[in-house]
Amino acid sequence: MKILMSALAVTMLFSGNIAAAQDAAAGEKVFKKCKACHKIGEGAKNTVGPALNNIVGQPIGSVEGYKYSKAMKAANEAGLVWDEASIAEYIADPKAYMIKALDDPKAKPKMTFKLKDEQKAKDVSAYVASFSSTD
Ligand code: HEC
Repeated sequence: MKILMSALAVTMLFSGNIAAAQDAAAGEKVFKKCKACHKIGEGAKNTVGPALNNIVGQPIGSVEGYKYSKAMKAANEAGLVWDEASIAEYIADPKAYMIKALDDPKAKPKMTFKLKDEQKAKDVSAYVASFSSTD
């Protein structure tokens, strides 16, 4: 029984990875929209927005050398941490996300871009997450 259970767990893990890989591949195309302001991958530097390597599993607003808005600094101080789901929610509407996360109706993040398409937001988050070491 124990062997069966772990075999099942492995299968589930494996199919999960395949799904994540597909999302990330679709997300790479979506990321073209982000490139105007964000760089990602080896040697990526902060531009209009912070470079997006290694942000999943890290506190909001913690990319070194980037000058964040007050809202992002407040989220950082509040100990909020990015995961794939919260990034998808954030990029759908950064201002609404920050107002909710900080419980502050005046929260005003600097990112003005919105990606309303839920599937695209999820895919691009998976793509961003593929540049983070979360293991
Ligand atoms: C018009 C420029 C612009 C575009 C386009 C844009 N962003 Fe941003 N983004 C910013 C800025 C500026 C910040 C910093 C926000 C702040 O300090 O309030 C930011 C912050 C972020 C953060 C938080 C990073 C951290 O260090 O905590 C994430 C995640 C993010 N953007 C993802 C994306 C994704 C994914 C896309 C494409 C779907 C995208 N952004 C498109 C300007 C942009």
